[in-house]
Amino acid sequence: MADALSTCLLDGALLPTSSARISPFDRGFLFGDGIYEVVPCYGGRPFRLPAHFDRLEAGLDALGIHNPYPRARWAELIQALITANGGGDMGLYLEITRGTEQGRDFLPQPGMNPTIFGFCWRLEVARPEQLERGISVVTLEDIRWLRCDIKSIALLAPVMLRMEAKRRGADEAILVRQGRLAEGSSSAVFVVNDGRIATAPASNERLPSITRLVVGEVIVALGLPLEVREIHHDEIYTSDEIWIASATREVMPVTLLDGRALGTGKPGPIWRRVFDEYQAFKKREAA
Ligand code: PDD
Repeated sequence: MADALSTCLLDGALLPTSSARISPFDRGFLFGDGIYEVVPCYGGRPFRLPAHFDRLEAGLDALGIHNPYPRARWAELIQALITANGGGDMGLYLEITRGTEQGRDFLPQPGMNPTIFGFCWRLEVARPEQLERGISVVTLEDIRWLRCDIKSIALLAPVMLRMEAKRRGADEAILVRQGRLAEGSSSAVFVVNDGRIATAPASNERLPSITRLVVGEVIVALGLPLEVREIHHDEIYTSDEIWIASATREVMPVTLLDGRALGTGKPGPIWRRVFDEYQAFKKREAA
């Protein structure tokens, strides 16, 4: 885990991370009543911020949480947080909860004032030897709720799934619901079969991943075909390549699936092309 950098954002103000405090009556603490975003920042600039705003606004709307700022103000606060922490490449976490009450009731009071918290950490790019090794995944039954499209801060199921993946010696869990591939416990998934790349469509069973969108653009830019369709559980075992994608892990090749080598047991050639082009996209947009 990378440590939080020295300055955080709390309710519109920058302050030392070590002195940030919120009430235990915050509904985020009592109910997990809130949403979050993880925005990768390259060269001191947030990557694909409008897409993160789209998802954040959709989440707030779905939960009926008041959005306290217009996009321009959010962008200012985010830039101030990045700058206060020295810029460069970092992950940025933003959490918005419904706010604090004086007691505990499942039904929230109307007109609550949301709590906003943000912090950053240094993003470590995967080292060449890590990329060469790839990652190990296990398939697990999806035990999450039916609104996985909301980036909810209530993350008990993914925490349990990641602990189970770790217990089985894996870095990530690929989740399966009723025989279909859902997504990773904290990542989107792509599979490649006979040169055909596929990813599952947006639905209530998966988060609309921003990295998945960017990887989709990369695939199109490379002139490769991309199928957006449901992926049957069995299909992943016969795949030549599987990749996982997220804000913090970018696009990583899976080399071990349920304890067995996937394909050649090495990162695949299509992943390599997509990875290289993804790096070019990042560089271009940070410039
Ligand atoms: N998680 N699916 C789930 C369930 C996720 O938690 C994530 C990311 C993704 C990928 O989304 P994106 O490309 O927008 O990062 C898909 C983040 C990184 C996290 O919770 O830390």
